[in-house]
Amino acid sequence: MKQTPNLLAVIVWTKIEKEGVCVSKLIIAGRQRLGGTAAVQGAKNSALPILAATVLTKGESVLYHCPDLSDVDASLQILRYLGCKAQRSGSTVLVQSDGVCRHDIPDELMRKTRSSIVFLGAVLAAAGRARLSFPGGCEIGLRPIDLHLKALRQMGAIVRERHGWLDCRAPHGLRGAEIALPFPSVGATEDIMLAAATANGVTTVTNAAREPEITDLADYLNKCGARIHGAGESTIVIDGVKTLGGCDHAIIPDRIVAATLIACAAVTNSEITLKGVIHSHLGAVLPVFEDAGCSFSAFENELRVIPPAGGRLRPMKIVRTMPYPGFPTDAQAPLLAAATVAGGTTVFIENIFENRYRHTAELVRMGADIKTEGKFAVVDGVDRLYGAAVEATDLRGAAALVAAGLCAEGMTEVSGVKYLERGYENFELVLSQLGADIHKV
Ligand code: EPZ
Repeated sequence: MKQTPNLLAVIVWTKIEKEGVCVSKLIIAGRQRLGGTAAVQGAKNSALPILAATVLTKGESVLYHCPDLSDVDASLQILRYLGCKAQRSGSTVLVQSDGVCRHDIPDELMRKTRSSIVFLGAVLAAAGRARLSFPGGCEIGLRPIDLHLKALRQMGAIVRERHGWLDCRAPHGLRGAEIALPFPSVGATEDIMLAAATANGVTTVTNAAREPEITDLADYLNKCGARIHGAGESTIVIDGVKTLGGCDHAIIPDRIVAATLIACAAVTNSEITLKGVIHSHLGAVLPVFEDAGCSFSAFENELRVIPPAGGRLRPMKIVRTMPYPGFPTDAQAPLLAAATVAGGTTVFIENIFENRYRHTAELVRMGADIKTEGKFAVVDGVDRLYGAAVEATDLRGAAALVAAGLCAEGMTEVSGVKYLERGYENFELVLSQLGADIHKV
């Protein structure tokens, strides 16, 4: 007898067939005023290199404020694969790494997040060898690693690249070197610090990245017994030591998540308070929002965001993304979302990545007036955005679409939530606790 298919099964199957797998979406009802206090999560871009650094240590490290993100989870999986014990309890992660017993990272783990390249220097230093699949580009650009490989070769590593694999060896250990970076690459600076911490001799890096996450990595390594001076400045000196032990370390707050929440408050004309913020890490971000009419009051590790008196953002004129301490490229997308409803024109110049305007096409679907040409984006503020079904294609672009949805007229459906979950911990929960009408389906 012919079975009548179960209706629910048909609906689910259709959805899976249409979209491959069941994907979650965020549904946002716009124009809700926000209010209250939000705690800022630990910094993703600090947690990732510090987790890689635990490979260099013998003993146990306890990491506090370690954000629960898919990118962080991928790093914990790599640590376990390499022979470390890694477990999470809330926002505390414990890593026991008495002995790395592997030196390779399989393709499927590398592909979970390309920032796993930061394991290269650490594994090479710990095991004398490192074999990992070449981290491809990603949605925002080619993401080359030439500066990483050149530096490791200067430290005595033999690096072979073939068939998509990187095979690095340091049979006689790594040695200190004088490394001049042509560009203050964050990842290359971190890879060098990790490779040099237990190398033979002194390594000097000039034109090093100065991001707070670099300083946090140096703080962690120095607590483990390393001898690193100058982190946060353009010249870092790493005097190699024989061994490193574990330590307890609280990861710094995520300045990009803080900037994103400020953008969400700005576009909804809301007054909110951020808890657990290091104001100096937002040195180039706050003035841009002040130009737009926002004001801030800082108290200990709290930051109160006050929207423009007239209820509408002024244009930010010109926003250039630069290496720290300049305006961070990761805050460009959320700020651009805010600029779409400002009372005038804002010009963005994206100097760091070559393909970091993918969110603009989706914002135009919501009624924004944006023209992009290479590294330039010209945003003419409109009176109102309108809710639409939009698709996120990268991490910070996803955050921009959420911010736009919060201020748009009507309902916005953001798909590609997996990108958001790479860097924002329970973001829809944080926003709904601030009063936003947002939920995940
Ligand atoms: C880190 O990426 C961050 N990722 C990025 O955050 C951030 O946007 C970026 O630094 C800049 O601040 C992590 O920390 C995990 P770079 P990274 O090396 O290390 C070129 C996010 O949204 N370059 O400073 O890859 C490169 O192409 C992510 O959280 C080379 O040419 O950044 C880019 O144009 C996105 N050769 C520029 O330097 C190299 O060997 C900046 O890259 C390395 C980099």
